[in-house]
Amino acid sequence: GELLRLRRGGAAAGEAAAAAGFPGAMLSEVLLVSAPGKVILHGEHAVVHGKVALAVSLNLRTFLRLQPHSNGKVDLNLPNIGIKRAWDVARLQSLDTSFLEQGDVTTPTSEQVEKLKEVAGLPDDCAVTERLAVLAFLYLYLSICRKQRALPSLDIVVWSELPPGAGLGSSAAYSVCLAAALLTVCEEIPNPLKDGDCVNRWTKEDLELINKWAFQGERMIHGNPSGVDNAVSTWGGALRYHQGKISSLKRSPALQILLTNTKVPRNTRALVAGVRNRLLKFPEIVAPLLTSIDAISLECERVLGEMGEAPAPEQYLVLEELIDMNQHHLNALGVGHASLDQLCQVTRARGLHSKLTGAGGGGCGITLLKPGLEQPEVEATKQALTSCGFDCLETSIGAPGVSIHSATSLDSRVQQALDGL
Ligand code: MEV
Repeated sequence: GELLRLRRGGAAAGEAAAAAGFPGAMLSEVLLVSAPGKVILHGEHAVVHGKVALAVSLNLRTFLRLQPHSNGKVDLNLPNIGIKRAWDVARLQSLDTSFLEQGDVTTPTSEQVEKLKEVAGLPDDCAVTERLAVLAFLYLYLSICRKQRALPSLDIVVWSELPPGAGLGSSAAYSVCLAAALLTVCEEIPNPLKDGDCVNRWTKEDLELINKWAFQGERMIHGNPSGVDNAVSTWGGALRYHQGKISSLKRSPALQILLTNTKVPRNTRALVAGVRNRLLKFPEIVAPLLTSIDAISLECERVLGEMGEAPAPEQYLVLEELIDMNQHHLNALGVGHASLDQLCQVTRARGLHSKLTGAGGGGCGITLLKPGLEQPEVEATKQALTSCGFDCLETSIGAPGVSIHSATSLDSRVQQALDGL
């Protein structure tokens, strides 16, 4: 009774609870968390055949605002996909959630997924994106908060700069934001934001826990993900992925890029199967292409390391050559597309180098912007790409991973999006 009253009493009661040493005392705080998307720099498709891939964080971020409520509800608001849902905490509290009890973090079983669907109360005709986003949320909320004496009443808004379904890791960034915010509000990990900080990050150990839970969220959404997307979103920077092993590059620079979405729909499964067929049909021809892509990833890793230590203009020339060679290999593997060729030509005419990123066959491409490039030149390139019918954004790769922000440090565009304006 006393605890419940304190919990529902807003900020002043929160402080009283903190003074009294109650768990959940942090519930009066608003948390603002962000996590980046990702692109594959090199190694898409080759990675399926055991070669190295490099994935880098994309400074298009997902933002989450968590506000403790006193209305006994848990609200989930996802303005990008028009989702607004609320559940009664008392009803969730009364559910038997022992099906979530597994000791440590493990894969959600199909039985758990079925149970969660019941809890969610989603209509049968619910769109797939909505169903998966809601299930991942409920899974993380119920699992992470179940150690609390009472489930917290929360208002959560998640808004993203990332286009969904473009292979840019938007679902992983969503899971990472949720895991970080829920673990923090439940005091499983401390809030790293100190008075006067604009932004801060968690310790290595805390990030490991965030990543573990985010992977669980990804499993809800994707079934059998590789874990690369959530790892990049958690750690930021550049990651190397090789035969299921993920490691973070020690130092990697932030590089300016154009990210172009050709908006040509692609079917990843069919593209992956196409490469496999070509490999079976022409092993002598295709295997060396995959080996060469592997070497491109390794060389790129080496150059990025060098750039992190001592940046020099020649390194950009190497990165550009690697981009060109890999783009030709990907075309030879049969995963190119006329729209991607057009992207390469338009940027090449302006002395810039591009390659597809992800599955290919359309989808997205990246263009490296070397330092010293004049802004009017960048604008002209963006304009030329936009007139091809593409969406084109200037952003950077190698951005920081999951971060926590002070309310005043977020730009007004993000604040407004979170306010639903
Ligand atoms: C798709 O983003 C990357 C591919 O290599 C497929 C995969 O790794 O699962 C094409």
